[in-house]
Amino acid sequence: MSGLILDLKSNIDFKNVPQHIAIIMDGNGRWAKKQGEDRIFGHHEGVNSVREIVEACGEIGVKYLTLYAFSTENWNRPKDEVDALMELLIATISLETPNLHKKGVKLHAIGDIKSLPQGCQNQLQESIDITANNTTVNLILALSYSSKWEITNAVKQIAENVKQGVVNPNDINANLISEHLNTKNFPDPELMIRTSGEHRISNFLLWQLAYAEFYFTETLWPDFRKNEFYQAILSYQKRERRFGLTGEQIQNN
Ligand code: FPP
Repeated sequence: MSGLILDLKSNIDFKNVPQHIAIIMDGNGRWAKKQGEDRIFGHHEGVNSVREIVEACGEIGVKYLTLYAFSTENWNRPKDEVDALMELLIATISLETPNLHKKGVKLHAIGDIKSLPQGCQNQLQESIDITANNTTVNLILALSYSSKWEITNAVKQIAENVKQGVVNPNDINANLISEHLNTKNFPDPELMIRTSGEHRISNFLLWQLAYAEFYFTETLWPDFRKNEFYQAILSYQKRERRFGLTGEQIQNN
């Protein structure tokens, strides 16, 4: 297995690694069911994949990794599962922080953080503070996040600024909107990965993924490890990113 990982990794063009990768980590529940276990067992196992993928980002030079850990819609899951997920988040962030810090990972959070239980907010803030000066990988957790929520907030802020006379409606452009999103300090992702065979975007970074390449795999999140991640990078590197131009224009540049 390690030989195969090395093979895939050695095929990566290190000059063309995405700066920012966004991942919809899907399939924990199905993975657990297949083992005859509770859904939460799958979420626990999913943490091992998170650890490996963060490590892989450090190894190949991905500077930003955004993980969809809990969506606004996930609040509607059975209370037991929501409670267990919040406990798991607190425990994982607390346990992993020393290791993340050692590896130079800087933690960030996007989403409606104030809607999280206070214990979760406190742990998150503590880990964000501890890792604040790190520069290897920016790990961005999307928590209680949905893109429509984020864009709605941006529109409200801009409307308020127009009302106050600080912004002229003629000056509203894509940059101004980006500056009012939770992701204002990060570049847009070049690659979005979704596991578990679902081909949806599920209210995730709708604005920021405008020109991202999408990679879908049948693999369930707890089985998505370095090997699969390198395969996604290799698939990305085979693609021609045209940004609305023709193939000839891209070749000539
Ligand atoms: C989707 O699988 C997964 C989630 C909603 C939770 C993801 C959380 C983790 C991997 C653990 C904590 C993460 C961090 C970053 C500390 P699903 O439950 O929708 O699976 P299913 O589609 O098979 O039901």
